[in-house]
Amino acid sequence: MTLKPLALSALLLTASLAQAAPQVEVLHYWTSGGEAKSAAELKKIMESKGVAWKDFAVAGGGGENAMTALKARVIAGSAPTAAQIKGPAIQEWGQEGRLANLDTAAAEGKWETLLPPVVTNVMKYKGHYVAVPVNVHRVNWLWVNPAVLEKAGAKAPTSFAEFFDAADKIKKAGLVAIAHGGQPWQDATVFESVVLGVGGADFYKKALVQLDQASLTGPTMIKAFETLARIKTYIDKDAAGRDWNLATAMVINGKAGMQFMGDWAKGEFTAAGKVPGKDYLCLAAPGTEKSFTFNIDSLAMFKVKGADDQKAQLTLANAVMSPEFQEVFNLNKGSIPVRAGVPRARFDSCATRSMDDMAATSKTNMLVPSLAHGMAVDSAKAGAIQDVIAKFMNSTMTPQAAAQALAKAAKTM
Ligand code: BGC
Repeated sequence: MTLKPLALSALLLTASLAQAAPQVEVLHYWTSGGEAKSAAELKKIMESKGVAWKDFAVAGGGGENAMTALKARVIAGSAPTAAQIKGPAIQEWGQEGRLANLDTAAAEGKWETLLPPVVTNVMKYKGHYVAVPVNVHRVNWLWVNPAVLEKAGAKAPTSFAEFFDAADKIKKAGLVAIAHGGQPWQDATVFESVVLGVGGADFYKKALVQLDQASLTGPTMIKAFETLARIKTYIDKDAAGRDWNLATAMVINGKAGMQFMGDWAKGEFTAAGKVPGKDYLCLAAPGTEKSFTFNIDSLAMFKVKGADDQKAQLTLANAVMSPEFQEVFNLNKGSIPVRAGVPRARFDSCATRSMDDMAATSKTNMLVPSLAHGMAVDSAKAGAIQDVIAKFMNSTMTPQAAAQALAKAAKTM
């Protein structure tokens, strides 16, 4: 009988020890085939370091659903350890006073020497590291199925003239020319590549980063909307609401010829065992060969209680910056490492091209932040702009009216 209370207290002790085991809870929206494989690599690394991984995955490309879930959790007083937040939104969470200070990890890991200032500036709030960068995605890509081109008698396009010529031929061959999912963030992804292709990097910056009113309403922007209106005519009737990875699957399976999408799409091709240059082509979106739209994924860290969990959080930050993680994650994700010192050998031709182009465009000032992926402007403005683009995609709104609405949305506070 005397054993019983003893056994019970032993049990309680084990339970409390189990509870105290360091853990990280990570909110992300990496749920497609290629994305899930990438996230699994981070989980594996954390577990190998004795840290339990609590997955807080919220499906929905572009992360809108994830951000809604995050807000609810923070309001309820139970923020996760880390969340996939990027760009100016990191500053917004910093202002809320919710983010942890990672300066010790940054100093120990010499982040300052491994990352370019264009990245470190975004990861800091008021001079202190609050987030850790995962990768660099390039957005201005066109994914092409060469077998479809061949069947249609079309050639790989570099300009809009060639692009529409190829699209016409693919359509005539009875296939879908442009694989697309009608969701606002996907519409915005196509739109920004069109603006870059039509107007060039300087115009892109003036219009979509500086939000210059004259550029937003002027003839170049109207031409971009006219081009977008033409693109709409090559999208199939079932596109509404379609997830981006299902659109990519249409290109993979040869049902469609081309897709405008960032290189997370390459994660899908890779997961399907496809080889670049043979099974698919990664081309710069028409007219954007010399520019690079960047989208940097990062994990912002929230203030956590308890020494063990704080330590686990720093372990997570260090793991993300490690060359091992940056290599294996990005091989699966389709992106490229954000830090220096990661071997190139295992990366494919699309990734090495992205690495070279990023370096080259940062010298020519043709490296521009993605509007559609939260790199260019604050979230209120980005949201209002995205709404205008989606409305244009789903109505008979004229290019002139769209440009006016865009300029108005850019004033959102
Ligand atoms: C993110 C990527 C993600 C994609 C699709 C982008 O905004 O940066 O990591 O794969 O959305 O969800």
